[in-house]
Amino acid sequence: MPGKINIAIDGPAASGKSTTARLVARALNYIYIDTGAMYRAVTLAVLRAGIDPADENAVENIASGVQIRVQLISGSQHTFLDGEDVSGNLRQPEINRIISIISAFGGVRRLMVLQQQELARPGGVVMDGRDIGTVVLPEAELKVFMLAGVEERARRRMAELQANGIEMSLKDVVAEIENRDRIDSSRDVAPLKPAPEARLLDTTEMSIEEQVRQILHWAKQIIG
Ligand code: DC
Repeated sequence: MPGKINIAIDGPAASGKSTTARLVARALNYIYIDTGAMYRAVTLAVLRAGIDPADENAVENIASGVQIRVQLISGSQHTFLDGEDVSGNLRQPEINRIISIISAFGGVRRLMVLQQQELARPGGVVMDGRDIGTVVLPEAELKVFMLAGVEERARRRMAELQANGIEMSLKDVVAEIENRDRIDSSRDVAPLKPAPEARLLDTTEMSIEEQVRQILHWAKQIIG
């Protein structure tokens, strides 16, 4: 019977992964790691460098030249780019627009995956992303793949954007999410897909509380 297990939560953009994963981690007294924030920080570095995001060599040079670090401060993840806390800068529309290009590059992914595996080594981690169950933590004791209809995901993303003072139309948010899903799912390296043994969780009609309860139920079956 394992003590602290690792939990991998994957799914498309705005499927509710991060909120759910954070609450699951809190309930179990585990550490929550948002891997999307790490890809977002690389993307921010690319934007700041002013290089062409489609230039694989230039992007990989940036990714290997910067230091991305995540740290828990009062229970919430802070993401650092070369020592600067950039947590508040990672949700900008400019990042959403190009992040799928950047995160499809194998060299970028190798750097991120190594760090993520290191973070999960002690166990007791809830990690969310696109390839956690398939690539980063294929040995995770519990793998969950979250799904939700695109309109519902767009509504959730809009609420999040509005909370950050960013106005976008529902139509634009749907288009951006569909575009990101298409690239994330069809890329050659670590595409978004459920691990064979992942438990599917369709959250279209579920509240956050219900999602958390379901995952905790699965986790407790394993932890015993
Ligand atoms: O979870 P998120 O929306 O913050 O992720 C942003 C982007 O980062 C997503 O469109 C694809 C990429 N990503 C990835 O390729 N692999 C991960 N493990 C996490 C995110």
